[in-house]
Amino acid sequence: MNTTSTKTVRELAVEIPGATRIFERLNIDYCCGGNQTLDKACDTAGVAVENVITMLESDTSAHPQSEEPDFLTATLAELIDHIVNKHHEFTRSEIARLRELTNKVCEAHGQNHPELDGVRRVFQTLSDELEPHMAKEERVLFPYTIQLESESARGKRSLPRPPFGTVANPVRMMMMEHENAGLLLKQMRALTSDYKVPADGCISYQTLYQALEAFESDLHQHIHLENNILFPRAVEMEGTMLAE
Ligand SMILES: [Fe+2]
Ligand SMILES: [Fe+2]
Repeated sequence: MNTTSTKTVRELAVEIPGATRIFERLNIDYCCGGNQTLDKACDTAGVAVENVITMLESDTSAHPQSEEPDFLTATLAELIDHIVNKHHEFTRSEIARLRELTNKVCEAHGQNHPELDGVRRVFQTLSDELEPHMAKEERVLFPYTIQLESESARGKRSLPRPPFGTVANPVRMMMMEHENAGLLLKQMRALTSDYKVPADGCISYQTLYQALEAFESDLHQHIHLENNILFPRAVEMEGTMLAE
């Protein structure tokens, strides 16, 4: 068996620069389901593992896109800055736009396409959860992580005890919320038959489905950066400092 197939999706997403784009295209879960082996994840997504390995091995994106930091060597502060400015900002502005657009499309096509009401309700639940989720990250977890890193860089060995005890606690809570967001995204994908616009769908309908799919893809990348890179590095950094 090829060793790549027994690696976890998370390991490959971190190691191979273009892996997340390939996984996204094939509907392979690399954020909340990142702990599965590639073999198992391909099985779930209904794609042949050998083909995915060939795609991963021929990936030539040796460097991250110019506007993105190299996530493995970037400082945690740089990573947080990227997450907030790229992903949190995009999520907030799309929530505002897509709430209106879902209402508009529901009004125009809801009668012929009852699934649209489900899409509207699931999107509403998802946005109602994401807004406080991002606020908690920005107000509590991210500032503490930045403080942790700057104290560590200054060679400090002791840490002020945060009100949440240890960074692992808010990390665990954020990961549970990510898991829930992932399930809601899956529900929307099922309701929309993989964002397939029906033959009588107007331009607004098409725009909505394209935008919801782009929203999903951005959220997957966002959760991947937090679950698979930022959070483990923060937990490890705190552990090293407490052990000293
Ligand atoms: Fe976030
Ligand atoms: Fe998050």
